[in-house]
Amino acid sequence: MKKILIVFGTRPEAIKMAPVVGVLKHSKYFRPVVAVTAQHREMLDQVLELFGIVPDYDLDIMRPRQTLFEVTVRALQGLEKVLQEAGPDLVLVHGDTTTTFVGALSAFYFQIPVGHVEAGLRTGNKYAPFPEEMNRRLTAALADLHFAPTARAAEALKREGIDPEKIFVTGNTVIDALQAVVREDYQFTDGRLYRFLEEGKRVILVTTHRRENWGEPLRQVYRALRRVVEQFEDVAVVFPVHRNPVVREAAEEIFAGLNRVHLLEPLPYADFANLMARSYLVLTDSGGLQEEAPSLGKPVLVLREVTERPEALEAGTVRLVGTAEERVFGEVVRLLTDEAAYYRMASAVNPYGDGQASRRILEALLYHFGQGPRPEPFSPKVLASTSFCAPAQNSSGGEEE
Ligand code: UD1
Ligand code: UDP
Repeated sequence: MKKILIVFGTRPEAIKMAPVVGVLKHSKYFRPVVAVTAQHREMLDQVLELFGIVPDYDLDIMRPRQTLFEVTVRALQGLEKVLQEAGPDLVLVHGDTTTTFVGALSAFYFQIPVGHVEAGLRTGNKYAPFPEEMNRRLTAALADLHFAPTARAAEALKREGIDPEKIFVTGNTVIDALQAVVREDYQFTDGRLYRFLEEGKRVILVTTHRRENWGEPLRQVYRALRRVVEQFEDVAVVFPVHRNPVVREAAEEIFAGLNRVHLLEPLPYADFANLMARSYLVLTDSGGLQEEAPSLGKPVLVLREVTERPEALEAGTVRLVGTAEERVFGEVVRLLTDEAAYYRMASAVNPYGDGQASRRILEALLYHFGQGPRPEPFSPKVLASTSFCAPAQNSSGGEEE
């Protein structure tokens, strides 16, 4: 059996790697070993619990208000010992976090091959998203196998001179995870979510955390939302706030005293995904939400100037709105008042995956070790453009199945 060391550290990496851990566990040829840096703690643990993953190694590196330097150093030192002890045949990393880059670098120092899941996303701007664009590019430079979620991501890798033989178009594993948890008859573990949905309000689901948006940009977004809630009585904002104190402090200050803005602790993934499936629209600077929401037929206003995920932008379900107060306010109001504009964005398209990404990654690994044929690439053309779930309650009464 070949030993595959899977390294991750934050919530989104865990969500997107859980399906890969699952398929490897069931394979006869591979033995998965999981090492978490725990760059995130509580937000990571929520995901580990949901998917029943018990890490073989847990570096527990998170500290309050940690800097990029601290995360890098602690993860690198911790992974040296893990790699020495585990002695894997291949290391898998995911995405664009500091854990991702350091995981790939550690494997390289031991001359162990690296597979990069969610490879090839690019904005072309080294400072946006920061530091993720550079983390992803540096990881690509270190990786031996590149699992690109879309054909466009594969093209970006080829343009950078990466051998096409080493690139596999797999779809994004986040859709595998989403399909595992979103259900029409889902029972929320957090009872308050029923209340928010049953009040008949249109729910705007909000998440923010990007470093580029810390400070004034986030404050402008929150002020815009405050005005929306003050003007539209049929709107409620549900905002599970990232654990980062920088994000919390601004949100708590600006939304103080507004009873239709619900600031919550980070929600368990299954609750969050099912809430998204029942929301009216999504306002976010997150990467993962830009992939999930289109699959659920939810319009997404992205609080960024650039995105490394242009597929849904082109399909029309995602719009880049930046963080300026007037612009954010205007775009949200438009989707609340212009039904045609809303439905143009809400028509479900799913450019990111078909729920088979982790299977393709398993097959690509088998192919790499000479144990099977090269998997067929993921193609969004074969996807049915339907939402898994009933659309959000909408007091304007306009939504249809
Ligand atoms: C990190 C990643 C980012 C990813 C994001 C997902 C880097 C540089 N950043 O950003 O790419 O999109 O995760 O959310 O890799 N905290 C807690 N508990 C938690 C998690 C975080 O208290 O479970 C607090 C701590 O004070 C911590 C701070 O949040 O110091 C920041 O965490 P960190 O991982 O450094 O940055 P994120 O902004 O979460
Ligand atoms: N998510 C979650 N609970 C929440 C908010 C988000 O489980 O309260 C999930 C969300 O569905 C997505 C992922 O966390 O899969 C996004 O994580 P985050 O925004 O932290 O990081 P990014 O995607 O920007 O890297």
